[in-house]
Amino acid sequence: MYKGRFITFEGGEGAGKSTQIKLIAETLEKLGYDVVVTREPGGSVGAEATRHVLLSGAAEEFGVRMEAFLFASARSDHVEEVIRPAVEAGKIVLCDRFADSTRIYQGVTGNIEATLLKNLERVAVNGMVPDLTIIIDVPAEIGMARATNRSAGQELDRFEKEELGTHELRRNAFLELAKEEPIRCTVVDGLGDVEDIADNVFKAVEMVLPLLPSQKKTKNKSAAQKKSNSA
Ligand code: TYD
Repeated sequence: MYKGRFITFEGGEGAGKSTQIKLIAETLEKLGYDVVVTREPGGSVGAEATRHVLLSGAAEEFGVRMEAFLFASARSDHVEEVIRPAVEAGKIVLCDRFADSTRIYQGVTGNIEATLLKNLERVAVNGMVPDLTIIIDVPAEIGMARATNRSAGQELDRFEKEELGTHELRRNAFLELAKEEPIRCTVVDGLGDVEDIADNVFKAVEMVLPLLPSQKKTKNKSAAQKKSNSA
């Protein structure tokens, strides 16, 4: 069994991650890959139970530190119950937000000490570092307008509710992160035509895709053929 890949999608509010994940999942499935789409906070039974506590704002009054621990415990469950088994089974895991969201939301705009966050991340991720992180970038103002539109009059969640300046800080922090980790992170411009954005997402994903089992067979066959020809 060949090893799968773990690809995460990050960005501010209203960046268009979900639409792009849906499109790339369809493309990869058409190519013959076994795809798992998941999200954070959540993605496993245990983590989904924590999701509401975090997004409703129920944990907000206990402080950012408490929220960071909850995100981390949800992540640990998600990694061990869903992500790692899928990657080990050769699947392509597409995850809507992961540890970088904690670095930016709880770290940069939550002011949690860097050492604490690093330790939490190390324990929660437990070696499951993404093969690729796509950061979909849109100006905070546009992203927030989209998020507000999407909510169709319903109350925004605990993080969406924050002020524009905070969302701007997050956008810049994601761009900074991409500069710090250029091998893992690729920034895709989230403005413009959905299909064009999807093409750019595919270009980045293509670079990390494993060979399909059928391609592997062809490759082995042609290698064997060459060997027997030269014998
Ligand atoms: P969600 O409704 O899943 O969607 P979206 O990614 O489209 O915003 O919202 C998740 C929210 O939780 C989002 O505001 C970012 C925040 N978040 C953190 O603050 N820290 C984290 O570690 C994660 C995974 C998410």
